[in-house]
Amino acid sequence: MAGRIPRAFIDDLLARTDIIEVIGSRIPLKKAGREWKANCPFHGEKTPSFTVNQQKQFYHCFGCGVHGTALSFLMEHDRLAFPEAVEDLANRAGLEVPREGGQAADPRDRQLDDLYGLMTHVDQHFRDALKENDRAKDYLKQRGLVGETAARYHLGYAPAGWDMALKKFGATDAGRQALLTAGLIIERNAEQEKSSSPGFYDRFRDRIMFPIRDSRGRVVGFGGRVLDQGEPKYLNSPETPLFHKGRELYGLFEVRQELRHIERLLVVEGYMDVVRLSQAEIHYAVATLGTATTPDHLNRIFRVTSEVVFAFDGDRAGRQAAWRALETCLPFAKEGRQLKFLFLPDGHDPDTLVALEGKEAFERRLEGSLPLSEYLVKQLSTDINLASIDGRARLAELAKPLIARVPEGIYRELLVDRLAREVRMPAPRLMSLLGAGERAEPRSLPQSRNHSARPRLSSGRGSVLKQTLARLIQQPAVARVIKDPESLRLTGDRGLAVLAELVDMLHVEPHLSSAQIIERWRDRPEHDRLSELAALALPDLDEAAAERELLGCIPSLLAGAGPERRVDELIEKAELEGLTEEEKRELVRLQSRPRT
Ligand code: GTP
Ligand code: MN
Repeated sequence: MAGRIPRAFIDDLLARTDIIEVIGSRIPLKKAGREWKANCPFHGEKTPSFTVNQQKQFYHCFGCGVHGTALSFLMEHDRLAFPEAVEDLANRAGLEVPREGGQAADPRDRQLDDLYGLMTHVDQHFRDALKENDRAKDYLKQRGLVGETAARYHLGYAPAGWDMALKKFGATDAGRQALLTAGLIIERNAEQEKSSSPGFYDRFRDRIMFPIRDSRGRVVGFGGRVLDQGEPKYLNSPETPLFHKGRELYGLFEVRQELRHIERLLVVEGYMDVVRLSQAEIHYAVATLGTATTPDHLNRIFRVTSEVVFAFDGDRAGRQAAWRALETCLPFAKEGRQLKFLFLPDGHDPDTLVALEGKEAFERRLEGSLPLSEYLVKQLSTDINLASIDGRARLAELAKPLIARVPEGIYRELLVDRLAREVRMPAPRLMSLLGAGERAEPRSLPQSRNHSARPRLSSGRGSVLKQTLARLIQQPAVARVIKDPESLRLTGDRGLAVLAELVDMLHVEPHLSSAQIIERWRDRPEHDRLSELAALALPDLDEAAAERELLGCIPSLLAGAGPERRVDELIEKAELEGLTEEEKRELVRLQSRPRT
């Protein structure tokens, strides 16, 4: 295997690359003010919301939320692997890509290789343990799974005990560190849990294990289910260098193994649903990992198929989740694609339903699922009296911001037609009422939360950190005013440690572009977050003003470090995706602590 590409080379390569040329040679870019614009190549649209910023060397689409560097663009657009994208840019710049020998390899890249290797071994360890544990086998049998299905999905069992994985894979310091980075063990926090001795313990204990595989089949994370009652019912791997929950779709690798041509994908909520459907010969189901559907998910989905059906429980929570999914889908709706919504009878999920009624009946339900346009109209017209003029006007008003997020084109026109019928108005008239030509910022219904693709600035201390990081990534030179990054690090706060690292880096290299900064984080868990911040729209400040702003933020960052920020973090997560039982307990504990 060729050696690793040195980090310094990637820096140098990005310094010699102009993202405008790279993207401009693939799609037509138009200058608009200081930025460049185009119709987004990653979702269908007719009015440009894809912008490229030359100074940052970064692109961002306000419609579907994609963003990244020239390298990310090549990876996404030309479907290249990272080293191939580097080769491509290097050819363009007339450079030879240097490779490091095994010895001098970048420790971070070597660590990644090791982590994938570790995950493979742990996966095997869980599978072996399942074979030897009758209780776990009985559980799967009682849930109706046969051995062949379990084998196809690599189902396993994490034995009971606090140090099973730890003993087996963590005998050395390096082994322990790898387990920790991979999220397989947890460090005891001596302060928080006064009673227990310091050290490490297994994250997954006495659980059925579902390995989550990436598109190449490498195990990147796990979901673990309790066998009996117990909380949390499912425990997932945390975010790690390998695993990003908002990006992976459980079962997609297995779908691609099974089907040569993927006519459609069915998006369900649970691991068990995917596995059970596959056993019923429905081989096209995938699940999000306890999160709402993200633009990343949709990009993945539409790369392999043109039809997607979302299945939701018929209860209130299911309907809420469905509406959120609809909002995320709007920028992806275009001709040639089908987006549908299936509501299941109360008290059922795909697992129980397919077990009850079998493949054919279940697929008949799929045939009867609601197209996005029908669902949208139906949902908006609940509680509205369409017999009255007021009611119909209200419907048009509610639909306006949603329609605005659908890319211009036939799909949007059909949607407006459909709505026009409902409000009994000629379509062209409605179209002009909706101002469908102009582009509204993504907005959502008053009663639903805003999950637009645009990175948001929320209030609270977390947002000061966000703002500070975003400013530094976008205007690196101003880092010089932060004289004492060490004080940030000393707080022990994770977010501030990243900030301190960034400041240290920029003190030495103040001329890095946003893209160069982001690429240095590529393989680390913070990469996605930082990359969102590179795309965040900040007020335009000259250097002096930006420096003043930055200096103004430091005291509140220091004051709010630690528990306060953790509380903010947890509350934000609770709103966005919900908390695990562990996190709920942490929040209660933090909120009930004495104030200082
Ligand atoms: P079974 O009871 O095994 O059939 O599971 P299910 O898939 O029907 O469970 P449910 O509908 O409750 O949850 C759907 C998905 O949400 C699961 O597959 C998990 O990904 C996620 N999930 C459920 N419970 C928890 C939890 O307690 N913590 C976390 N992090 N995720 C959960
Ligand atoms: Mn279930």
